[in-house]
Amino acid sequence: MAEPSFLTAVRESYDTVAADYVERVPPPAAMDPLSRAMLAGFAELVRTAGLAPVADLGCGPGRVTAHLAGLGVSAFGVDLSPKMIGLARHAYPNLRFTEGSMTALEMRDDELGGILAWYSTHHTPPRWLPAVFAEFHRTLAPGGYLLWGDYVGDERLQPTQGYGHPVSYESYLLPLDRMIGLLEQAGLVVTARLEQEPGGRVNRPHACLLARKPEKP
Ligand SMILES: C[S@@+](CC[C@H](N)C(=O)[O-])C[C@H]1O[C@@H](n2cnc3c(N)ncnc32)[C@H](O)[C@@H]1O
Repeated sequence: MAEPSFLTAVRESYDTVAADYVERVPPPAAMDPLSRAMLAGFAELVRTAGLAPVADLGCGPGRVTAHLAGLGVSAFGVDLSPKMIGLARHAYPNLRFTEGSMTALEMRDDELGGILAWYSTHHTPPRWLPAVFAEFHRTLAPGGYLLWGDYVGDERLQPTQGYGHPVSYESYLLPLDRMIGLLEQAGLVVTARLEQEPGGRVNRPHACLLARKPEKP
């Protein structure tokens, strides 16, 4: 089956911007304290539950994957963009990074202790989100955790430039309640939410959700 055009646009665009992305986007150490706290809380929950591994889906250059690994989590990264995966492998040779799409994960059912989707779902058209979240549910072990973080809003953006280069991807910002509804329709239970106004280095409203795949009855 032919690849959906939005995936081709995301892959080509992030291949183009990869090197400048690393220069322009601050690393996890410079993130706002509340986002870092959500990452730390997620890592602690996964670790203390003895869950592994954690897949960082849409890992980009792997800095957040490495941040999680530094918090004691067994983490690996997956990204659509071969250039991003190349940068991640080069920067973190001890971690595993593979090309792939969160629309169709090459992973077994119940294989993951956790999933991180960190600013990586906003290029997915809303009609594709049920398929993506179904993949999250399928690949998470019962009791496994999802941490999702991204921009929120109610608009479709068609930027022509990103990180100093021409890009062809689009961005879809959804209200947080709609995102929660989509996760819950996929069978995940949302247990915590953080909404933040624009501030610091993030110029849009943004949010984090913690969700869990229910244990088997
Ligand atoms: C804004 S960057 C965020 C990267 C990383 N999570 C971070 O915070 O540094 C978005 C990344 O998501 C990836 N991405 C978008 N859609 C994807 C998909 N369907 N499957 C895998 N990766 C995807 C892009 O290639 C890009 O590297």
